[in-house]
Amino acid sequence: MADNEFVAILDFGSQYTQLIARRVREADVYCEVLPPTVRPDELRKRNLKGVILSGGPASVYEPRSPRCERGIFDLGVPVLGICYGLQLAGLLLGGGRVRPAREREYGPAELTVREAEDLLVGVPRTTRVWMSHGDKVEADRKSFRILASTPNCAAAAVRHRERPFYGVQFHPEVHHTPHGARVLGNFLRRVCRCRGDWKIGSVIDRSVKEIRSATGNDRVLCALSGGVDSSVAAALVHRAIGDRLVCVFVDNGLLRKGERDQVRREFQIQRHVTTRIVDASREFLRALNGVSDPERKRKIIGHTFIDVFQAEARKIRRVKFLAQGTLYPDVIESRSAFGGPSAKIKTHHNVGGLPAKLGFTLIEPLRFLFKDEVRRMGRELGLPSEIVDRQPFPGPGLAVRLLGPVDRTRLDVLRDADEIVRGEIERAGLHRRLWQYFAVLLPVSTVGVMGDGRTYDNVVAVRAVESVDGMTADWARLPYEVLAGISSRIVNEVKGVNRVTMDISSKPPATIEWE
Ligand code: XMP
Repeated sequence: MADNEFVAILDFGSQYTQLIARRVREADVYCEVLPPTVRPDELRKRNLKGVILSGGPASVYEPRSPRCERGIFDLGVPVLGICYGLQLAGLLLGGGRVRPAREREYGPAELTVREAEDLLVGVPRTTRVWMSHGDKVEADRKSFRILASTPNCAAAAVRHRERPFYGVQFHPEVHHTPHGARVLGNFLRRVCRCRGDWKIGSVIDRSVKEIRSATGNDRVLCALSGGVDSSVAAALVHRAIGDRLVCVFVDNGLLRKGERDQVRREFQIQRHVTTRIVDASREFLRALNGVSDPERKRKIIGHTFIDVFQAEARKIRRVKFLAQGTLYPDVIESRSAFGGPSAKIKTHHNVGGLPAKLGFTLIEPLRFLFKDEVRRMGRELGLPSEIVDRQPFPGPGLAVRLLGPVDRTRLDVLRDADEIVRGEIERAGLHRRLWQYFAVLLPVSTVGVMGDGRTYDNVVAVRAVESVDGMTADWARLPYEVLAGISSRIVNEVKGVNRVTMDISSKPPATIEWE
């Protein structure tokens, strides 16, 4: 990555900053999201091709509004300011007066292109763009050329007359700006002259080299969960160092049907990865005995995992490194200066905290990748679709889908019902448009009738949602025939269930998981 073409995105706190980064990557250009305080000298050391200043919630006239150094504009590479980024440039470069907009402008606006050259080549003369700002720039025509306007904003796209600075008041990175990718693409290709050398194949080659040189002759441990991130991390590290990688898969007894076998098949049998499969279901179930509170379940599962993993790791000698599938969004969020402490709805306990406790050096070969890039990498490494396209599955597993205390019998009921929900949805080919789809076992019994007898049995809820990132979600309108198939198979095939319901709540106000 060190010698790749590089675009720096300075983050002024916009909710869309990560989207900018994803769009740039989609244009095959490597970029990183950096704090606005980054020193121009740091950027000079890279193969810098351009800088993008993100939007942000502040007003440039607020006393503590985030700023970048003036030197960012003197790096000799083009700079694109988006919304707040444009306003800040207007202030730092002069020639752009920032005014509070008469009304906060939020939503679609019609953009009329006046000069298509460079930035707006290929964008229709009139097109829809997404606005979201409280201030706007009134550009001095002596310093800026107006490239496009909207009815409320004369300087909706501008170019500095003397410097390679471009600015847009709208958000090209969001889907609601249909030609936004074109605008960003023009900035990268035509203005910054990027060739687009960010290809997943070369990322693999480079990562393999880096992992080899970082680990020398030492062994690397990897906690394999069967999820996309840890699987791709393991496959990548294995390509780099072969049998010096040891994977540990902890079966916590809270897995879905077939998961343990899938890991065994893919990693142990197919790829010959040294994989220690630890059946720790007894420990987990003992620790969870009688616990109903979701957050306590999460804590217990998190701690038990660390204990089990630690005990296993001690048995493996000469291990210095721990590989983890941390992704770029986690890296950005963990050091965001603007995120602030948001209200914790659920704590997500995965393998965090492991390295500190175990004294390993951490290697995170995916720490600069977005999820879609990790999936692409997984495919390139030959992982099957069942792993690479797998729906997200929470760390605490079925424990948070089984309401009330967890025990083996109820887990088996839930596992069987869940297999049917997944199977029927996949057979109907609906899974590609769903974010998650699974069964939930409720902590109540209801009366039913089977044959000539009365039953008093469990209720299963079907949860299927559409979502882009899991932050918000809508319940999926599944066809009645598919629901009918799921319902009749569950009550007929899963002993102990006499009723099936469908969860028709969106997030918010509900969450995706029931606990
Ligand atoms: P909620 O239920 O908060 O879930 O709407 C949002 C996304 O997060 C997943 N989730 C978890 N993932 N550990 C995880 O690794 C957890 O404790 C956890 N709780 C929820 C959930 O499956 C969904 O994708």
